Amino acid sequence: MNFPKDFLWGGATAANQFEGGWNEDGKLDSTADHFTLGSRKSPRLFTEKIDEKKYFYPSHQASDFYHHYKEDIALMAEMGFKIYRMSINWTRIFPNGDDKTPNKKGIEFYRNVFKELKKYNIEPLVTISHYEMPYHLAETYDGWYARETIGFYLNYCKVLFTEYKGLVKYWLTFNEINSLILDGNGYFSGGILSSSQKNMEAGLVGELDDLTKDQKYEDVVKQYQALHHQLVASALAVKLAHETSSDYQVGCMIAGITQYPYTCKPEDVLLSQQERRNIFYYCPDIQVKGKYPKYAKRYLKENDIQIKMNLEDECILSEGTVDFFTFSYYSTGCVTTDDQIAKTAGNLVFGVANPYLEKSQWGWQIDPIGLRYFLNEIYDRYEIPMMVVENGLGQEDKLEEDLSIHDDYRIQYMKEHIAAMGEAIEDGVELIGYTPWGCIDLVAASTGEMKKRYGFVYVDADDEGDGTFNRYKKDSFYWYKKLIETNGKSLY
Ligand code: BG6
Repeated sequence: MNFPKDFLWGGATAANQFEGGWNEDGKLDSTADHFTLGSRKSPRLFTEKIDEKKYFYPSHQASDFYHHYKEDIALMAEMGFKIYRMSINWTRIFPNGDDKTPNKKGIEFYRNVFKELKKYNIEPLVTISHYEMPYHLAETYDGWYARETIGFYLNYCKVLFTEYKGLVKYWLTFNEINSLILDGNGYFSGGILSSSQKNMEAGLVGELDDLTKDQKYEDVVKQYQALHHQLVASALAVKLAHETSSDYQVGCMIAGITQYPYTCKPEDVLLSQQERRNIFYYCPDIQVKGKYPKYAKRYLKENDIQIKMNLEDECILSEGTVDFFTFSYYSTGCVTTDDQIAKTAGNLVFGVANPYLEKSQWGWQIDPIGLRYFLNEIYDRYEIPMMVVENGLGQEDKLEEDLSIHDDYRIQYMKEHIAAMGEAIEDGVELIGYTPWGCIDLVAASTGEMKKRYGFVYVDADDEGDGTFNRYKKDSFYWYKKLIETNGKSLY
C-alpha cells in the first residue's frame, strides 16, 4: 500500500481543550469556558457565572499549551509531523467578539506558534471556530442565532487572513458544523444562550427527555437558523480567504456521524439513508455543492422549520464553496425503526449497537473498515481532496514508574484505521492528510476529563488539573514516528 509521497501526516488539537491560559493577556471567557468537569455518568454543567471556588472548569488550564507551545511543537517535529491541526481561540483575538480593534497580544501568540511550526516545516491547519465563541456574543446577541454574528465572525476572519498571510495555507471555517443541529447542542455548537438545554449531555442517554415538546421544537428551529448563519458565514469566509491570498485553501469540517442500517429490512435501509442525508450530508452538500439540497427542503417543511434567509444568501452559498473536505471519524453506529433495540454511545450521538463491533472504554464502537467505506462514499459524492482531521482512541493510560506509557491498544487502533485509509487511497480516494485527535493529551469535549486520553504524548495532569504538566512520550510516539518516517510502509 503506498501513501502519496507528499501525504500530510500530523495530529490535531483544539484551543479550548488544549491551550489553557483562559484569561491571560487580554483574553476573555469563551462559551467553552463556562463548562464544568463532567463524566460518563454526569453532564458537564453550564454555569452562567464562572465560579472557580465551587466548580472545576477544564478549559481554563487544559494542557497548558499556552505556556508549553515550544516544547509541544518540538515533540510534534520529533515525530516528523508535516501538518498540525489547531484552532484559534476567537476570544484571544477579539475578547468580546464585537470589539472595534483586535487584541495585539492574542495576534502575537498565534504568530509565534505559526513561526515555531514553520521552523520545523510543519504546515498549520487552522480551525477558525472549534466549539467556542466569545461569551459576550452569546450573552448579548444569542450567539449564532443572530445574523449580526456573521459580521463579527468575518471581522475576525479578516484579521486572521491578513495577519497570518505567508504563515498559514489551510483553514477550516467551523469544527463539525453539522453538530449544531443535534439535540441539545444549541449552546455548545452555536452559543445560543436562550437554548433550554445548555449542559453538555454528550455521552449520556435520555437527559433531554425532561424538556417539553414546545421547548424542544423552539430549540430546534433556533439551531437550524443559527446553522444557516454559520453556513453563510463559512461561504463568505471562503470568498474572503480566496480574495486575500491565492495560496489559501479552505475546507469544511463535518462530524463523522456514520451509521449503517441495523438490518436489511427496507425500512431500516431507508431510515439510514435519510439520517445520513439529514445529519451528515446536509452541511457539506451546501458547503461543497453551493446550495441547499432538495431533500433538506422536504425535511424542513415536514418538521415545520422555517429558516429566515436573505435574498443574497443563495448567491453567497454558491460563490463560497470549499476547496477540500475534512471530517472526524471515531466510530460508527446503526439505525433502525425498531425502538426496542439497545443504544450505544458514539461521538456526539447515540446509535444502535452493532453486534459485530467492539467498544472503547467510553463505549464508542471501533470500526476501521467503516473508515474505508465512508471515505469512498464521500469521495464519490464530492470528488475533492479529503483529510481525516480527527480519529483516535480515547482511553486511560498508566504512567509507569520509569515514566514510560505502554499504549499498545492505541497503536492497534491506529494501525487498523491507517490501513483502512491506505485501502481507500488504493480505491481511488484523493486523501491528502491525516491528523489524529489529541496528539498530545488534552481534555475531552464531551466529559471534560483528562483521563480520556488520545495522545502520543502523555500530559501529567489529572481530571481536576493537578499534576506537573510534564510531557512524556508513550510507546505510540515512537510507533507513529517510524510510520511517518517510512511514509506508512512500517505498517505492512
Ligand atoms: C469531536 C470534537 O467531536 O470529538 C473534539 O471535534 C472532541 O473537540 C472529539 O474532543 C472527541 O470527543 P471527546 O468527547 O472524547 O473529547
